[in-house]
Amino acid sequence: MTNVPEQDRVLIFDTTLRDGEQSPGATMTHDEKLEIAGLLDEMGVDIIEAGFPIASEGDFKAVSEIAANSKNAVICGLARASATDIDRCWEAVKHAAKPRIHTFIGTSPLHRAIPNLSMDEMAQKIHETVSHARNLCDNVQWSPMDATRTEWDYLCRVVEIAIKAGATTINVPDTVGYTAPEESATLIRRLIETVPGADEIIFATHCHNDLGMATANALAAVAGGARQIECTVNGLGERAGNTALEEVVMALKVRHDILPWSTGVDSTKIMHISRRVSTVSGFPVQFNKAIVGKNAFAHESGIHQDGMLKNAETFEIMRPEDVGLTASNLVMGKHSGRAALRDKLKQLGHEVGDNQLKDIFVRFKELADRKKEVYDEDIVALVGTTADQAGDRLQIVSLKVLCGTGGPAEATLEMEIDGKEVIATEHGDGPVDATFKAVRTLYPNQARLQLYQVHAVTEGTDAQATVSVRLEEDGVIATGQSADTDTVVASAKAYVNALNRLLVRREKAGPGADAREVSYKDVS
Ligand code: KIV
Ligand code: ZN
Repeated sequence: MTNVPEQDRVLIFDTTLRDGEQSPGATMTHDEKLEIAGLLDEMGVDIIEAGFPIASEGDFKAVSEIAANSKNAVICGLARASATDIDRCWEAVKHAAKPRIHTFIGTSPLHRAIPNLSMDEMAQKIHETVSHARNLCDNVQWSPMDATRTEWDYLCRVVEIAIKAGATTINVPDTVGYTAPEESATLIRRLIETVPGADEIIFATHCHNDLGMATANALAAVAGGARQIECTVNGLGERAGNTALEEVVMALKVRHDILPWSTGVDSTKIMHISRRVSTVSGFPVQFNKAIVGKNAFAHESGIHQDGMLKNAETFEIMRPEDVGLTASNLVMGKHSGRAALRDKLKQLGHEVGDNQLKDIFVRFKELADRKKEVYDEDIVALVGTTADQAGDRLQIVSLKVLCGTGGPAEATLEMEIDGKEVIATEHGDGPVDATFKAVRTLYPNQARLQLYQVHAVTEGTDAQATVSVRLEEDGVIATGQSADTDTVVASAKAYVNALNRLLVRREKAGPGADAREVSYKDVS
């Protein structure tokens, strides 16, 4: 088999489910991972890094199932430089029609110091582990982690060893987002020119965004000869994140004149997957984020609006439809029926099944009763948040809050916990604090609030608020989201939603099974 694509084709390797999921708090459930993998496969992503199989039983199962369900994409799993990791990875990805093992080790001086390996010992380990992986699978990717801070001569030496041992893709990670575009291009170009056998394999680029240059660095690496870009939806990932899938796909499309490479990704699916990843990861997309931010196609100043009305190209370099946003003329209100809602959802990029439509319709009607105008953003918020699930152990029955000047806020909360109705009144520093205290009184727990975030979905005082809550307990992290025109109600629902997810996760994982507990430290 040849791994070398046509010269103008860049392979898109999505690592939302592995590197993206590694961002603290972005943990996704099994079903959510499967859904995102399905969307990635459908939109034409070439390789999906589905997880880190040794990290937990949950990761192993998710990677195995994604592999078994994959249609077109290569399914890849991550493994450290050890036979045990690699075997576990193979057990998971082998169910795919097109499996890949991705194994890595930190090669920079700082990373070599952690397992305390000499240059020679590490070189030997690379030879052994890549050979081991290649004996199991004919598609092997190897990464020298922190490549951009690895000594040049040593980098060439280990890349050559990995190629000789059978790696078919060499990924060159800028693990700490340290490089700059020119340097990124030069590094790949020089590796291709210098390392024997480099023309037989594909070079990949994997850039983190610590200095905000991840996308620029990835595209520069392609100019230098890389033919695989590693990226995540919404740029999700460790610290400041990774190269964003939507940015590289659209940059290659819009500036094909100076970036003459193509991807096989259907850009019209971008908005939908961006919204789903935002919802399931609990990471809202910043308003001014390129391509997928709420303001990416919004025009407010008079000059811009005037220009747009005369010719959209005056202030837009791509059409909203190119990324899956459609201008719609269906006005939704309390008289709209289920078919209109389904149609509207479709225009907004959400194909929903009958059950989901039923649930969204009920909440849409409630909203339309309370709110004069229901905007597209309101409907998207309804899709993005879950209704109370019948199977949830904790359910909110009612909430009454007293707040204002001159005293602490008071919240009276009625809940159903494991089928039993309970009620508590608590006081706090503001209505949200009082409400969260009431939840803790009714359901005592040690979960630490890591994040509490409120966004107004639209303008106006009757706007819906979407609230994200992230909780952590004994290394297990869960996020909850909810939307309501009442910010305190949305907060209470998001908090309870996160608690319910934490309970499920705890039951499934058992103690000590969280992915973050697997360190990158070599296991020798
Ligand atoms: O950033 C990095 O170096 C990684 C490796 C595991 C490829 O994510
Ligand atoms: Zn990374």
